Amino acid sequence: MAPLVPTSQQWVEKYRPRQVKDVVHQEEVVLTLTNTLETGNLPHLLFYGPPGTGKTTTALAIAHQLFGPELYKSRVLELNASDDRGINVVRTKIKDFAAVAVGPGVSGYPCPPFKIIILDEADSMTEDAQNALRRTMETYSKVTRFCFICNYISRIIEPLASRCAKFRFKPLVNNVLSSRIQFICQEEGLSLDPKALETLNQVSEGDMRRAITYLQAAARLYGSSISSKNIINVSGVIDQSVVCCLLEACKTGFFDQAQKAVTDIIDEGYPVSQILSQMYDLVVANEDLSDLQKAQVCERIAQADKCLIDGADEYLQILDVASGAMRAFCNMSQECAFI
Ligand SMILES: Nc1ncnc2c1ncn2[C@@H]1O[C@H](COP(=O)(O)OP(=O)(O)O)[C@@H](O)[C@H]1O
Ligand SMILES: [Mg+2]
Repeated sequence: MAPLVPTSQQWVEKYRPRQVKDVVHQEEVVLTLTNTLETGNLPHLLFYGPPGTGKTTTALAIAHQLFGPELYKSRVLELNASDDRGINVVRTKIKDFAAVAVGPGVSGYPCPPFKIIILDEADSMTEDAQNALRRTMETYSKVTRFCFICNYISRIIEPLASRCAKFRFKPLVNNVLSSRIQFICQEEGLSLDPKALETLNQVSEGDMRRAITYLQAAARLYGSSISSKNIINVSGVIDQSVVCCLLEACKTGFFDQAQKAVTDIIDEGYPVSQILSQMYDLVVANEDLSDLQKAQVCERIAQADKCLIDGADEYLQILDVASGAMRAFCNMSQECAFI
């Protein structure tokens, strides 16, 4: 077996770009912010987009590039979802920080005359807390800039969002992810065959944090030569053959067979939401199915997904999806006939 790679630091931190210009694939964001950094004239910022696309990285890089290590502590306040950010914190901690006057700058950095408050994962803040920020933002706008970071822009209340320059972060495309992963492999002395790289792309879905985390987990467990199977194992994705088996059973048109496939899945302890998500991908990509058939199955999957979130029984939900898929594949009526 290949030697195990020594572990210490998290690679997501180790390979986090330190400068805005090193953030890949977000060209418009990087270009606009680089210009702003030169003038030091920063508006309030709102970064939004899917996870693992460089939002936090960019915010931290801006703060470091503006103030340097010496002033960072006194000029930058970082709060994320694990910090308490209820209304009281907004009224005290954030307000106190915002109200402090800024001191002199240091040479070598732009040090504009304001502080930055980074509110990461701001969409998890309550509406009340967000409302309480409005006043703080207005009152201290001369000496403070806010940087809100979120996945869903719709969860930031309009009065806050409308005060910010908004930047959308795109999901990372495969070749961007691949080249970054290959770079990390080189640095860490790993060998990743092309199939494994493709699998890593698939399971990360444009999320660089996931890609790097899976890579590190695989390196820890399997040593320096990593296969596609290793990646599947650490990612929690279920082997495609399990899902294919279920679909084949549904295609037979016999409920007993579909039910048996479902029972096998539950007995194996596979997480049903993951099965449904992979089933969805397979059904949508299947060229043998008509649009109507796909729509019927997807509707069932959507309903089951909602029920699972609400705490419904996994077995019953996947059985419902399987029976709906069977009806769709065999062109039976979607309505249940109660006899
Ligand atoms: N655009 C990017 N360019 C380079 N590395 C990235 C990019 N996006 C994400 N990463 C990598 O993924 C990790 C997580 O990125 P982060 O900025 O925290 O994502 P999020 O958008 O969820 O805030 C970083 O440590 C970095 O290594
Ligand atoms: Mg983040």
